[in-house]
Amino acid sequence: MKSSSDTVRRAARVFTPALHLYYPLSIVRGEGVHVDTEDGERYLDFSSGLGVLNIGHNHPRVVAAAREQTERFIHTGGIYYNETTVQAAEQLLSVTPPGIDMLFFSNSGAEAVEGALKLARHVTARQGVISFTHAFHGRTLGAVSITTSSSAYRKGYHPLIPSVYQAPYPYCYRCRFGNRPETCGLSCLGCLEDVLTHQIPAEEVAAIIIEPFLGEGGYFPAPATFLCSLRELCDRHGILLIFDEVQSGMGRTGRWFAAEHAGVEPDIMTVAKGIASGFPLSAVAAGRNLMERWPSGAHGTTFGGNPVSCAACSATIDVIRDEGLLEQASVRGAAVLDRLRPFAEAHPLVGQVRGHGYMIGIEFVDYDGAPNGAACARVLDHCLEHGLILIGCGLERNVIRFIPPLTVSRDQLDHALGILEAGIARLS
Ligand SMILES: Cc1ncc(COP(=O)(O)O)c(C=O)c1O
Repeated sequence: MKSSSDTVRRAARVFTPALHLYYPLSIVRGEGVHVDTEDGERYLDFSSGLGVLNIGHNHPRVVAAAREQTERFIHTGGIYYNETTVQAAEQLLSVTPPGIDMLFFSNSGAEAVEGALKLARHVTARQGVISFTHAFHGRTLGAVSITTSSSAYRKGYHPLIPSVYQAPYPYCYRCRFGNRPETCGLSCLGCLEDVLTHQIPAEEVAAIIIEPFLGEGGYFPAPATFLCSLRELCDRHGILLIFDEVQSGMGRTGRWFAAEHAGVEPDIMTVAKGIASGFPLSAVAAGRNLMERWPSGAHGTTFGGNPVSCAACSATIDVIRDEGLLEQASVRGAAVLDRLRPFAEAHPLVGQVRGHGYMIGIEFVDYDGAPNGAACARVLDHCLEHGLILIGCGLERNVIRFIPPLTVSRDQLDHALGILEAGIARLS
């Protein structure tokens, strides 16, 4: 896509190409599910700012809370406490699983992941970490060392942090063992047990980290049976179970956190993206039993828990509750699946439509079932041409993330689905 925007041209001169943006669009305004661009176009933003704007752009209650806090004070650093940040922590812990009752605020998803790894290593006095193939946990050195959604994220950065091992993610649509869900013997879990047998003994593993709903790696929810078995394995070996809910949390799946669909609780969890409607904030959260064993000064931050971000966080949680957005996302997200699934049956290039709530993945395939990034790109281009911003994911960029703000209206949803369906229909 070509852009006539002066800002986009100037950006190319000042930003390293390492900074990759999805579209050459420069926006001048965001409101609800819409963005207006410098070129005078208006788009429906179903990327939700990379899964961040769960209550849309500039929700009035978020804007008001941030403005009110900004007028009083903006920054506390690691110097003083303040009521706004404490209140945001209380609010967040009121929606995390019952066993999660303390947290540490930081700024980004990757930072929260770093915190989770450090906490796990510190309290267990063990070094090993096991993550899963397809996983995406962020770009900092520790986070990228456990990220395997693409080798591109790791290329040029070796050696990565040591004592990190991988087991296969239960991406059942492309089961590497040829199993079908109804006959699956959890071979993925067998591979994880092999890691413990052949590579690192369980007593040296601090943590196993998993996205309960795979994000960047392909938008696939881990089966409940797998997460239950993982919980049981961790308990058996005294390994801490970390759920990375950076992308899947804060109501995205129609529950506060994706793991609720499986009824499994982690020892440690990471939260970011939707936490503060676009203000930089993240958290590593865990049970008091663990957090109180992380001594004073063992971790730190200058900007984490910024009061303006925290005011936005509390307002975001209030909005999700007051507007009944979890229920709405569950019901309407299920209706979206019902509407789109016939495409998977009728259209040879649509392999699967899956998800919970408004975290929906549409996987494109070739006639032989291989990932089809070209088909996915054509549908995304069609959507953009017709005013709908969607983004892809997966190793071959062959999965569309259908992630509207939870506040999307029925009419907006219907309009967007019409555009998407026309794009898919044009593939043939
Ligand atoms: C599951 C998950 N963890 C961690 C991250 C890293 O978050 P950030 O980009 O805020 O560092 C992401 C970002 O997409 C993510 O999806």
